[in-house]
Amino acid sequence: MDKSFLGAMEAITGTIHENKEFLTDLDRAIGDADHGHNMARGFHAVMEKLRASPPADLSTGLKTTAMTLISTVGGASGPLYGTAFLRCAKVMQGKDSIDKTDAVQLLGESLDGIESRGKAQPGDKTMIDALKPAYDTFAAASEQNRTFLECLEEACKAAEEGVNYTKTIAARKGRASYLGERSIGHQDPGATSVMLILKALTEYYKSL
Ligand SMILES: Nc1ncnc2c1ncn2[C@@H]1O[C@H](COP(=O)(O)OP(=O)(O)OP(=O)(O)O)[C@@H](O)[C@H]1O
Ligand SMILES: [Mg+2]
Repeated sequence: MDKSFLGAMEAITGTIHENKEFLTDLDRAIGDADHGHNMARGFHAVMEKLRASPPADLSTGLKTTAMTLISTVGGASGPLYGTAFLRCAKVMQGKDSIDKTDAVQLLGESLDGIESRGKAQPGDKTMIDALKPAYDTFAAASEQNRTFLECLEEACKAAEEGVNYTKTIAARKGRASYLGERSIGHQDPGATSVMLILKALTEYYKSL
């Protein structure tokens, strides 16, 4: 299989590892102080599995990623990210590389999977507030025939704006919702991990 899938997963794992305490601190402010640790545990387990038995193709690799996240990440984020990666595995069935059209579908299916699993909507202060603007922006940039890299960079910017937007709103899902208005002023940990993952993938793409 193409080495670039393993490289992309390593890039995600690396950024989650580097930001483990940061993500956990964000979750300490409005949740239960485990988002960074949950994500790091999950992605380290993913890398162990992928390294021990390299997947035959992209779709299998994404499916292994999904199942590992679901089984090793406690909390809300494991099943949500797991659902997103499962949808990605479906999109990539029978394909051995990712073009711009695939990327639009990957982001769109991830968003749809997270929305249907978590029943959250834009403005609820969740990972959706980073992922939806990233998807919308990537899709619009792709329509305008921008390069893959330009689409990625614009999507990252949109995700960052989404993260900043989460500081201005009250949480309506997960533990943070117990704080209600007191969650205003804090950025959402899940939206932040979505943004970090997109940025890591963009940097990785630039390095290829
Ligand atoms: N229903 C949901 N839909 C989408 N994202 C959600 C939902 N519930 C929580 N999240 C996201 O999960 C993040 C928290 O993930 P974490 O790994 O800390 O799991 P958790 O502690 O079980 O979460 P929570 O306490 O929010 O249920 C939140 O910042 C938010 O972005
Ligand atoms: Mg938590």
